[in-house]
Amino acid sequence: MSDRGFPVGVIGAGAMGRGIAQVAASAGHSVLLADANADAVSQARAAIGKALDRDVEKQRRTRAEADEVLARIVDAGDVRHGHESFRGCGLVIEAVVERLEVKQALFTALEAVVGPHAVLATNTSSLSVAAIAGACKRPGRVLGIHFFNPAPVMPLVEVVPAITTEPVVTERMTSLVSGWGKTTVVATDTPGFIVNRVARPFYGESLRQLEEGIADVATIDWAMRELGGFRMGPFELMDFIGNDVNYAVTRSVFESMYFDSRYSPALTQQRMVEAGLYGRKRERGYYDYRDGATRPEPTMDETLGRGILDRTLALLINEAVDAVHHRVASPAAIETAMTRGVNYPRGLLAWGDEIGAATILHRLEALQDDYGEDRYRASVLLRRCVRERRPLLS
Ligand SMILES: NC(=O)c1ccc[n+]([C@@H]2O[C@H](COP(=O)([O-])OP(=O)(O)OC[C@H]3O[C@@H](n4cnc5c(N)ncnc54)[C@H](O)[C@@H]3O)[C@@H](O)[C@H]2O)c1
Repeated sequence: MSDRGFPVGVIGAGAMGRGIAQVAASAGHSVLLADANADAVSQARAAIGKALDRDVEKQRRTRAEADEVLARIVDAGDVRHGHESFRGCGLVIEAVVERLEVKQALFTALEAVVGPHAVLATNTSSLSVAAIAGACKRPGRVLGIHFFNPAPVMPLVEVVPAITTEPVVTERMTSLVSGWGKTTVVATDTPGFIVNRVARPFYGESLRQLEEGIADVATIDWAMRELGGFRMGPFELMDFIGNDVNYAVTRSVFESMYFDSRYSPALTQQRMVEAGLYGRKRERGYYDYRDGATRPEPTMDETLGRGILDRTLALLINEAVDAVHHRVASPAAIETAMTRGVNYPRGLLAWGDEIGAATILHRLEALQDDYGEDRYRASVLLRRCVRERRPLLS
């Protein structure tokens, strides 16, 4: 059977699982969708049905196509009684709760029923793929396939082989998911993979500037959006993602990086989470989304705005260069990931080349000098590129 023809299992019918099910079914697979919560699959099917209705309204697909896609997504039954229904699947993707022991137990149960050529994929954002695969008898067929939210809309998928994944499995899955219309990049199994690692300063350095009173939320957002060309400012984006989710990712990357101060979370973000100010989903975050609330005006001071942008951008570019240095992914994959995964206006390496690697290094050294903190240390690759007059994107 070709990879396009086999049934795909999706376990976990929450925000991500339902989106992944829609993507696989749209590509022609029959999809078995399961969840530990009895009502979750019917709720997921209803939500997918609504998303498909919107596609029909916007003439992105015909009514008949939408009906066929939904019909291909079937309820796999109650997983608490076993995973027998996944026996015929060529690929099972899990999108269950982000807890290592839950994912390990799930894969251990699955490998007892699926066929010898079936692939087991995790959609984890922050756990080690090796640790999930390590619980399996055949870790060679386990890898990460990391979609972004919402999966049907976001074009990027990070394919993440663990050190134990067979190369042929990575190749097969990269080509399968590319065939689903996604832009795939291969990333090494390191904390945050590409996007969630390289993007950390977008949030972290903005929070720092807020905490230091350099500017308020609205001004920092204005600077990054209007002067930097980012689609959303960092505080708008954190409110959109959910401050609870963003804080959890930040903590996870920080802890997994052995508490490297480059990734340290901000106390402000912790307090926002403790106070329940999660962002849009709670109608309150850095901004107030309740009816009648007014939006604060930014201070449109261009000198101040440039300072905010230059500082955050220097850290972002340094992070992208350091990801190249640590072979998280190829330079081209890092450019693709940041433009397609989080809609950055341009690739950070190319942006760094345009500004000049020496200027970026100078900005970082000035910050490190001022703060005396390791957080601002320049990547050794940035130093080498400056010394050898090499471009960052090569
Ligand atoms: N939300 C995001 O932005 C995002 C983006 C990329 C990756 N992820 C990752 O995707 C995964 C799912 O995230 P989500 O946001 O969809 O979570 P969610 O809470 O919306 O959904 C998780 C679902 O898994 C179910 N579940 C829990 N344990 C289960 C089990 N043992 N068997 C079957 N079902 C089980 C829950 O009932 C729930 O419906 C996580 O690993 C997360 O890190 C999330």
